[in-house]
Amino acid sequence: MGAGKTTLGDDVARRLGRLLVDTDAGIEDDTGRTVADLLVDDEDVFRAIEEGVAGRALRKDETAVIALGGGAVEDWLTRQELRRAFVVFLDVDVDTAWERAAGTGRPLARDRTVFDERYARRQPLYRQVADAVVASGDVDGVILAAAAIHHELGALDRLDELVPGDGPVALVADPTVAGIYGARAQQALGARLTQTIDVPAGEEAKQLAVAQRTWRELRLDRTGTIVALGGGTTTDLAGFVASTYLRGIPWVAVPTTLVGQVDAAIGGKTGIDLPEGKNLVGAFHWPARVVIDEALLETLPERERRQGQAELLKTELLADRSLDVRGAAAFKAALCLRDPRDQGQRNVLNLGHTFAHALEAAADFDLPHGEAVALGLLAALRLSNRDTSRVEEELDPRPVAVDSERAWQALLRDKKRAGDAIRVVVLTDDGPRLEERPAEEVRRELVRLIA
Ligand SMILES: NC(=O)c1ccc[n+]([C@@H]2O[C@H](COP(=O)([O-])OP(=O)(O)OC[C@H]3O[C@@H](n4cnc5c(N)ncnc54)[C@H](O)[C@@H]3O)[C@@H](O)[C@H]2O)c1
Ligand SMILES: [Zn+2]
Repeated sequence: MGAGKTTLGDDVARRLGRLLVDTDAGIEDDTGRTVADLLVDDEDVFRAIEEGVAGRALRKDETAVIALGGGAVEDWLTRQELRRAFVVFLDVDVDTAWERAAGTGRPLARDRTVFDERYARRQPLYRQVADAVVASGDVDGVILAAAAIHHELGALDRLDELVPGDGPVALVADPTVAGIYGARAQQALGARLTQTIDVPAGEEAKQLAVAQRTWRELRLDRTGTIVALGGGTTTDLAGFVASTYLRGIPWVAVPTTLVGQVDAAIGGKTGIDLPEGKNLVGAFHWPARVVIDEALLETLPERERRQGQAELLKTELLADRSLDVRGAAAFKAALCLRDPRDQGQRNVLNLGHTFAHALEAAADFDLPHGEAVALGLLAALRLSNRDTSRVEEELDPRPVAVDSERAWQALLRDKKRAGDAIRVVVLTDDGPRLEERPAEEVRRELVRLIA
């Protein structure tokens, strides 16, 4: 009571594109009476009605966000039904809860002593049913929990607790990252760590030969977990190996780059490259946990940090507000939870990327992705009739010397073509969306990015 379930539930439901089911509202609909009225009358009868409404919501096939009445956990049957759901306990201290509840004149918030007793009695029940505990009002916290993302400074040293289960672990890292953080990861994992596998640094890791070597070196059985410690190339490769090894075993991503923490480690896309192109083979395989420890970014070279800054600014433009690493991770996670197989709503994450990919291809991939994205964002903003000064000030994109015809041909091959129009992500007053733009307009913006 007083934790703000309904307000937060509404926000979470909107972010995840799900229906909100408010059990109190359902009870009022069913009985034609107010919750306050029913509670004053007979709390036991109220609980019985509540159990029915909650049970119905929990048994629905379609996943919804359910704001469950504060007393529902006191019912044994409801607690059993809650096993079907991912349960988030919204933690609120008793004084705040009292202030909020007493102010609304709710029948169960009239006597402070009774209120305190009730609060104390329910605490252990909430914790017993909860899959995650989140501070009241923390919408991002709920989304991160639902996406199995754990954000905490120093989390690397608690890896043992953060890797689900208690089975054996194989650690995958490139030599640079292993050199800096390998010992700490090994120390944290203790006896669970049964092997450490080296993969090359950078895009070299995302090759079939490296995947094959990793498959063959792995000694895990199906109770095992792969832990990928590193940038996006390490997590893409290790996640792909996990998706296929023994027909799929769980994996945990511990991203060590800014790109990884706000982008690559989130959303369950894993994969490797082919000579024909990047990311052409892969799988959707959501990590059992993503551990975001921003302290790991301290050793990241400036050049690598800039790569991530481009994706972070992209996310801020999409969200239309400023974001930190945690907020950006939650923003991407929500989009990916809405669209786990990348069949629609996720496509806005490609803001600027149609142009970026074209420039990268025309540069024979000798152009850092972040720099290409910075340029692509300029073009996307211009097509959206938006101000480009933030991109210019924060990312300082410089036109690249590539062949403009090659870049154009690469853009046309990028599958986003519909007749004479080209589909690009633009920002509108109703948020980001994929829109068709005349080919010549898109080409003109592409050419402006070329020196
Ligand atoms: N799966 C997805 O949804 C997704 C999304 C975006 C990008 N990606 C992929 O991510 C890859 C790029 O990832 P990246 O930018 O993280 O590059 P990366 O993995 O190559 O890492 C960059 C370099 O930084 C070093 N490094 C990493 N962490 C460090 C640290 N904490 N301190 C010092 N050095 C460190 C690495 O050794 C490497 O040399 C691309 O292959 C891209 O396709 C995937
Ligand atoms: Zn990108």
